[in-house]
Amino acid sequence: MSLSEAIHEKFTTLFGQQPLLVRSPARINLIGEHTDYNMGFVLPAAIDKEIIFAVAPNEAGRFRLFAYNFDTYIEIDNQTLTPQIQNSWTNYLMGVVEQFQQLGFTVPSFDCIFGGEIPKGAGLSSSAAVECGLAFALNQLFGFNLTKLDLVKLCQKAENQFVGVQCGIMDQFANTFGKENHVILLDCRSLDFQYFPLNLHDYQLVLLDTGVHHSLASSEYNTRRKECEEGVHILKKYEPTILSLRDATIEILEKYKNEFDETTWKRCHFIVQENQRVLAVCEALQKNDLGEVGRKMFASHQGLQYDYEVSCDELDFLVGLAAKDADVLGARMMGGGFGGCTINLVRAQSAPSFIEKAQKAYSDYKGMELKAYTVKIAGGTSEWA
Ligand code: GLA
Repeated sequence: MSLSEAIHEKFTTLFGQQPLLVRSPARINLIGEHTDYNMGFVLPAAIDKEIIFAVAPNEAGRFRLFAYNFDTYIEIDNQTLTPQIQNSWTNYLMGVVEQFQQLGFTVPSFDCIFGGEIPKGAGLSSSAAVECGLAFALNQLFGFNLTKLDLVKLCQKAENQFVGVQCGIMDQFANTFGKENHVILLDCRSLDFQYFPLNLHDYQLVLLDTGVHHSLASSEYNTRRKECEEGVHILKKYEPTILSLRDATIEILEKYKNEFDETTWKRCHFIVQENQRVLAVCEALQKNDLGEVGRKMFASHQGLQYDYEVSCDELDFLVGLAAKDADVLGARMMGGGFGGCTINLVRAQSAPSFIEKAQKAYSDYKGMELKAYTVKIAGGTSEWA
């Protein structure tokens, strides 16, 4: 039985009615890390790993929620929406409901089952998939008529305000606007975007999942945001048109280097370079220059490791293996950092042996099983057909 069939069956058994089925994907990011909240560029895509939602209105006056992967059922009174203890999966759902309410919509009570194959904490944005899947379903079921961009912003706010993570807009955007075989060049300031065909020829994308998620992740994420703001604060004194690091150049940074402490300067330097790398990768894709795409991926990782300092030993180990492999054009850590996956651009016919070697090496190094995912670029959240 497929995942969608299993979730459909569970829904009819548990709630005795027919649901709307929605598919909500994970995302990758080819390049452009930590640039979204600096109003810069990112190059993400939705992939063929997903969560399935089954949702229908109910007469119970309560939200009846079932997390298929955790085999857990929870009922929530639709009058009292307050965040539950940290990390509760219900926060991702109720945060979305609360945002609809903040926009003035009445959200009738509903039944909901969701579950799927996006590993949690792997840097593939399972949280955005949960938020955006439910937002899409409620928008359809209750005819709220919000646009896709409205839903993206609503879900980002849910994560910022209800879940309490100060994420940028990339994950929710990629989830919602994903398009098969294309990466999305998103300008995180104007929210203008452009699809670039991702022709990988005889290469493919392989994700290697460290299986670790260091507890530093969310506090360091917020610290990086502050460090970037501090950089903007310094530059603005001299160059008032600089409103975010997006507006800075390497020349400007060099000019005012003496005003910065070393850490803040490194953070800012990384962001300015990373923005340039995103645009360079788009140019390389247009020229079918995958070698250049790969080099920029390695350079991005170096910056994330040494300047932005959001990598960790496990990620560095895996990128180090990739760098030594002639069949890998590029590799880097992906997402917020401190664990999760590396993304690797690998010659397709060598992918199985690359994965096998990495698994052996990782097991020798960490004594842990290394999960590997060969991913395809897929469409964004939609009704399950
Ligand atoms: C997390 C956040 C995103 C983005 C990335 C880093 O995935 O949710 O908004 O900032 O980290 O690029």
